[in-house]
Amino acid sequence: MSSAVLEAEGISAGYAGLRVVDGVSVRVHEGEVVVVLGPNGSGKSTLLKAIFGLLPLMEGRLRVMGRWVEKPEPERLVRMGVGYVPQVDNIFPSLTVRENLEMGGFAAGNGEVEEVLELFPELREKLHLHAINLSGGERQMLALARALMPKPRILLLDEPSAGLAPAMVGRIMGKIEEVRRAGVAVLLVEQNVRSALQIATRGCIMAGGRKVFEGTPAEILSHRDMARIYFGRREA
Ligand SMILES: Nc1ncnc2c1ncn2[C@@H]1O[C@H](COP(=O)(O)OP(=O)(O)O)[C@@H](O)[C@H]1O
Ligand SMILES: [Mg+2]
Repeated sequence: MSSAVLEAEGISAGYAGLRVVDGVSVRVHEGEVVVVLGPNGSGKSTLLKAIFGLLPLMEGRLRVMGRWVEKPEPERLVRMGVGYVPQVDNIFPSLTVRENLEMGGFAAGNGEVEEVLELFPELREKLHLHAINLSGGERQMLALARALMPKPRILLLDEPSAGLAPAMVGRIMGKIEEVRRAGVAVLLVEQNVRSALQIATRGCIMAGGRKVFEGTPAEILSHRDMARIYFGRREA
């Protein structure tokens, strides 16, 4: 088994003392895309925010590259090699594509921008455009590219394909697969279940703030309770 990049153990978190995520553990190894599935409101975004230190941990602990993180906080995690792309507000619309990329890096020079553009060649001709002029899919590509600027070991992605047309969903998943092959592990929250499972190495399902199932993509697809978990009913 390859080594763990991120280990979150028994994470509980929420808002104003209200527990929304309850004792969830996830582990991502080198070379993996681990997908977190689950219906709306099941706590997926809250889990990612808690891991990235945007919400205080009520319980649980976190290890990054084998090192305990006493008190997760975003700046520290970025330095340890963790990147996070929230579902919304993940780019600066009034800045150019190049400025967005440069702001994503520690001390970004042209070298770093060029490196990221190798994975995202479609952004090259848009470097001087203000990001507000990009399509929805291009904005998500920019958000991914930006998060890669500090050379993370793992990316936490919150619904990168939300609101995109089916063809673009496929392209984004293809990009995430390329990111994985370039050596960056991924913890991916997705609503596009089938697309996500095509690139996932493992996954889990959350419901009501808890992890209710964990397995390979094939095991998840054939899980007999998927419909009940997602739609509150049992499949015939
Ligand atoms: N900022 C917030 N303040 C209070 N409650 C929130 C906040 N964000 C989310 N919640 C609640 O936490 C629960 C889980 O939300 P979330 O983690 O966004 O779920 P998911 O990403 O799976 O759709 C929901 O019941 C939601 O209403
Ligand atoms: Mg969410």
